[in-house]
Amino acid sequence: MATDKLRVGLIGCGGIAPAHLSSYRRNERVDVVAVADLDMERAESLAKEAGATAYSSYVEMLEKERLDAVSLLTPPDSHRTIAEVALSAGVHIFSEKPLAKTSADGKAMAEAASSAGKLLMVAQCHRFHEPVRRAKELISQGRLGEMVTYRNRFGYIAGKPNATTRGRGGILLDNGSHSSYIFRYLVGPVKSALGWAPSDQLAQVEDLCVCTVILQASNGVGGVIELDGAARPCPSVMEVYGTEGAIVIDYAGGSQFLPANGDPPLSLDNPELPGAHRFDREIDHFVACVMGEEDPEVGVEEGIADLLVLEACYESMTSGKRVSL
Ligand SMILES: NC(=O)c1ccc[n+]([C@@H]2O[C@H](COP(=O)([O-])OP(=O)(O)OC[C@H]3O[C@@H](n4cnc5c(N)ncnc54)[C@H](O)[C@@H]3O)[C@@H](O)[C@H]2O)c1
Repeated sequence: MATDKLRVGLIGCGGIAPAHLSSYRRNERVDVVAVADLDMERAESLAKEAGATAYSSYVEMLEKERLDAVSLLTPPDSHRTIAEVALSAGVHIFSEKPLAKTSADGKAMAEAASSAGKLLMVAQCHRFHEPVRRAKELISQGRLGEMVTYRNRFGYIAGKPNATTRGRGGILLDNGSHSSYIFRYLVGPVKSALGWAPSDQLAQVEDLCVCTVILQASNGVGGVIELDGAARPCPSVMEVYGTEGAIVIDYAGGSQFLPANGDPPLSLDNPELPGAHRFDREIDHFVACVMGEEDPEVGVEEGIADLLVLEACYESMTSGKRVSL
């Protein structure tokens, strides 16, 4: 019965919203009943696709609809205000990454969620990506032997800051948030950060379009992360090297485990999974958590952990010194 379903709203109807809508629509226990965007044309267009009601004000949407949960899909500098209003309206929140613009905002959001007794989870879609899951399994099973080094490279949309890149929070907050949680998931908690960025991009974090960081995990393993808004084409790759083999996760070229003993490579891809399976899986998990069936794998503390790492990276870029967490 429709009334048994979770009533979900989307706040923000821009680039990422169709991915959330599509994953919610695959879940038979959810109805996306309302969407909100300051830009009413965007809201109406997505509402039409969803069969939902469009609002230009998320406050009005929260007042008029009896929502159980929302996806928070606006730029990160608006997350804290919107989350506080939504939590006081009694809805659970699935927030896109980064959780907020600063760790202070993230902590305030965590307190608001705790006071409201509602879930605040952060979207970390690559943790649900099949090759990343398989890599985590292989590492946990000791198949890599002793982990030695790590490397990650993500591309971006521009080499120089402009209104679009600044609106997205710059490459460190935008793609760097993915890099932070993938490193923490595969390698371990971050102990220190050393960062570099072009000097003309250091005035504010939103100006960053190119940067490189070296993270060191508490287990001593170090990894290089290159966030590159200049290289064309720029592969999206993670590599984990150990004494017994290497894992290469390449979003375009395929992912595999390469044993050091010369055994044939093991593919980490599952061609039967749809391309968007990481979004479907994270939304299914959020829904199961709201329904009390699963414990959050990616709670608010995961989003705060990323913001602390990214703040350390930015501090290091501006000071030229390694920053401990
Ligand atoms: N997981 C991923 O792979 C992934 C991919 C893209 C974006 N994201 C994240 O999703 C979030 C949104 O990114 P995007 O690319 O969709 O941005 P976008 O700029 O395309 O869309 C954001 C939308 O939010 C609306 N908005 C802003 N403030 C609002 C407010 N107060 N009330 C209602 N609507 C408001 C804007 O009008 C815009 O339509 C960001 O945090 C981004 O980092 C994640």
